[in-house]
Amino acid sequence: MSNRAEGFGSGKVILAGEHAVVHGRPALAIGLDLGVTAIAEPAEATTLHVPVWDLELTLADAEGDGDKAQLAQAFRVALSQAKLDLPVRVTADVRLPSGAGLGCSAALGVAVFDALERHKGEPTSRTSLGERTLAWEEVFHGNPSGIDNMTAATGGLLYFVRGEAPEISKPGRALPLVIAHSGERSSTKEVVASVARQLERSPARVNELFDGITSVVRNMKLAAEQGDLKAIGQLMDMNQAMLSALMLSTEALETLCREARNAGAFGAKLTGAGAGGCMIALARNEAHAREVQQALEPHASKTWVALAGG
Ligand code: PMV
Repeated sequence: MSNRAEGFGSGKVILAGEHAVVHGRPALAIGLDLGVTAIAEPAEATTLHVPVWDLELTLADAEGDGDKAQLAQAFRVALSQAKLDLPVRVTADVRLPSGAGLGCSAALGVAVFDALERHKGEPTSRTSLGERTLAWEEVFHGNPSGIDNMTAATGGLLYFVRGEAPEISKPGRALPLVIAHSGERSSTKEVVASVARQLERSPARVNELFDGITSVVRNMKLAAEQGDLKAIGQLMDMNQAMLSALMLSTEALETLCREARNAGAFGAKLTGAGAGGCMIALARNEAHAREVQQALEPHASKTWVALAGG
């Protein structure tokens, strides 16, 4: 058994297809170089430590309620899969905002699973790591499609259909993305449930929107592989209109999309669960991404530039 092992999970943005993917439609996601690194090492007692959240928990914390208990329950899932004989201390360096649609919980899960398996001396393939981390995501989200944990494990450009092996490729050109947080927190679990209720009440309307989203995703995959940024941007705008029709956008997200387009972005949309969280905009190149970022700063609680898939 090795002593000190490091694992990594990357953050992600969903370029198109969020929510529809929960109901069996395809979605397109891309890994970010921002993510979570976890270190697993021998210890006197088993603990999970996340310094940036000022958090240290043991398995006893899984019995309570709230965020800490949920995280302890997820940690218990990871430990039971890793089947370690001796206590382990896991320390996670989280470099992603949580509750923002950037896949923070999945990146943490993948990093923890990865570190535990390496600590045991049994590293697995990235896709099997992604599959295993679904059980971690289920603790937080109830009905996750699996796109977050798979992208957190593999990185790259993912064409993902629930329950199928992902198609992983690279975009023809790296995507100069601007990510802006609306400042509004949203619960993926609640927002996913609200879309499920709409689907139950108005199946024809919602399925028609899902059909539109499916064709956006398929076209965007081709555009991304060809490196056609302008086409990707147009498809992002179309997806945003469909997400708004599902009542997933907010005033703040609409403002961010508008300001990004006014600053010359090829397209902009919410990413992840929506009803708050982050917007992504596609810029012409990295220098232009900085300009778009500046234009967004007065309207956002936080902004980032990411060259995704480079
Ligand atoms: O966890 P988030 O906010 O990145 O959202 C994930 C994307 C959804 O399609 C809304 C949910 C899912 O499980 O695919």
